[in-house]
Amino acid sequence: MKKSFTFSIIALVLVLFSCGEKKTSSQASSTEPFIESGAIWLDTDGNQINAHGGGIMYHEGTYYWYGEYKGDSTYWNPKVPNWECYRTEAGGVSCYSSTDLTNWKFEGVVLKPDLENEDSELHPSNVLERPKVIYNDQTKKFVLWLHVDSHNYGKAAAGVAVCDTPNGNFEYLGSMRPNEAMSRDMTLFKDDDGKAYHVYSSEENRTLYISLLTDDYLKPTGTFTRNFVDKSREAPAVFKKDGKYYILSSGCTAWDPNQAEYAVADSMLGEWTVMGDPCSGKDAHITFYGQSTHVLPIAGKDGAYMAMFDKWNKTDLIDSRYIWLPIEFKADNKIDIAWQDKWQVSQVF
Ligand code: DGJ
Repeated sequence: MKKSFTFSIIALVLVLFSCGEKKTSSQASSTEPFIESGAIWLDTDGNQINAHGGGIMYHEGTYYWYGEYKGDSTYWNPKVPNWECYRTEAGGVSCYSSTDLTNWKFEGVVLKPDLENEDSELHPSNVLERPKVIYNDQTKKFVLWLHVDSHNYGKAAAGVAVCDTPNGNFEYLGSMRPNEAMSRDMTLFKDDDGKAYHVYSSEENRTLYISLLTDDYLKPTGTFTRNFVDKSREAPAVFKKDGKYYILSSGCTAWDPNQAEYAVADSMLGEWTVMGDPCSGKDAHITFYGQSTHVLPIAGKDGAYMAMFDKWNKTDLIDSRYIWLPIEFKADNKIDIAWQDKWQVSQVF
């Protein structure tokens, strides 16, 4: 009697358990992976994706994600005692490719570090951050700009590299202080008319410069504007919708999160109108513990944009995670980036 009662209880538990399982699997009926905020993201080889401070370029049916390929040990730079200068070895620029934004194939390190020459800007002891790539329709070259710095961030320069293919070996052309001004956090923006702009934190990160590039995208033209003067904005990400330009940025608090802000303009060179914090939901006031790096227009989907953030782990930088969220457009050029634990591309775009 006791035995059969125990058996019935076990059978009931198993039935309930399997019902619960069924419900879960029918909710996630599709096999499409989720974009899960702050989770460990694996590439198609099963390795953790290492593409920080990056951006995505869409080219001929494929998304290419370029980012900082961080070394695996983090240290506090002993030569910089006065701020939290956590560092890893700079491992160059990585590239991953995808056709669906969720399955990412590692294409390799497309801008290689220079392991031999300690004087090289690409030596791992230096800083290589925030790489962005755009395609030049005239020269047929893929052009990469990135923040190039000395070990203590004193050099404050921008480096340029080119390649004939999106996933080949980029040739490093060297660095400069564009418009004779410091350049740290940066992004690139290619406009509909083919003109491209370099957007960078300058003047000790106090002022954001927007600089028109030459037609080959390799140099500044000398036409530039100083924006958000003395407002200390960094981590810029630029996009355009319905003729309006938007800049998303963070404040300056090293690797620690702070409040995001966005601004809108009728022209890339300004004037910019500050609109406030675009984030909403859990931990919105500190950008969900993230920092902006890029905004991606979704290919073939009018009005669909995805904001990309890094969730830095300052004491283990290689394990910094990613937060990607859709942008919702509202009246009067307002936008909303709402927190989501996880979402599926096909359900949103
Ligand atoms: C904040 C910047 O946005 C990052 O790219 C990096 O340079 C850190 N500062 C370094 O502290």
